[in-house]
Amino acid sequence: MRKKIIAGNWKMNLNLSESIELISGIKNGLVNQQLNCELVICPPFTSLETASVLIKDSAIKLGGQNMYYEENGAFTAEISASMLKSVGCQYVILGHSERRTIFGETNELINKKIKKALTSQLTPIFCIGETLEERESGSTFDVVKKQVVEGLSEINSEDAQKIVIAYEPVWAIGTGKTASKEQAEEVHAFIRSLLCELYSNEVAEEITIQYGGSVKPDNAVELLSQPNIDGALVGGACLKADSFIAIGAAC
Ligand code: 13P
Repeated sequence: MRKKIIAGNWKMNLNLSESIELISGIKNGLVNQQLNCELVICPPFTSLETASVLIKDSAIKLGGQNMYYEENGAFTAEISASMLKSVGCQYVILGHSERRTIFGETNELINKKIKKALTSQLTPIFCIGETLEERESGSTFDVVKKQVVEGLSEINSEDAQKIVIAYEPVWAIGTGKTASKEQAEEVHAFIRSLLCELYSNEVAEEITIQYGGSVKPDNAVELLSQPNIDGALVGGACLKADSFIAIGAAC
């Protein structure tokens, strides 16, 4: 049975003291709450180690926002999978649309990163999604298919089940324009059928597929109640403890 996962992508926000404040807020908010999902925070690299200490006795899990696929070496400013593991990460966001568009990450590079995360026992949160132009020209399914097929290239069934996929339509990220529950469910169901084709029905049923793009407490319930939406990757709303926990509670 696949897990529901709510992950907070802090992006390039919050310095160390602000991170400590947000984590304390989340921990306090969870004192009398039993969530029906896994809650993951993905702060900037500079806050990971402190975050790991602060969440030690809680149910909150930790993730990085990116990594490089090499083990170590002359790759200035990059962070390896084992570095993320060493500060307590269990997850890593890979292939976010901001990495693809601003930093030129390709499906091929993302595939290498996913494979490295898997061999390092990190759970990749593999992001995919179409731009507004692609949606309007009717190529959403083609774009998503190419991202999935190339991103999962040479990954076997056993490993595929360890991956979390995040469908984030680029036009819904940070815009306040959420996909409707029907629009989101349609693509999620398509992704699941693609996974079924690439692997098997059993494997496809095991894979958590999160939705991301302007998820807020007031739209979380309707999105998360769709049969193929298994959680959320949250940007803006994860920077406030109350709204992040409210999205978790929507599970
Ligand atoms: P917003 O929730 O701010 O739209 O960001 C979504 C996102 O990009 C999460 O990775």
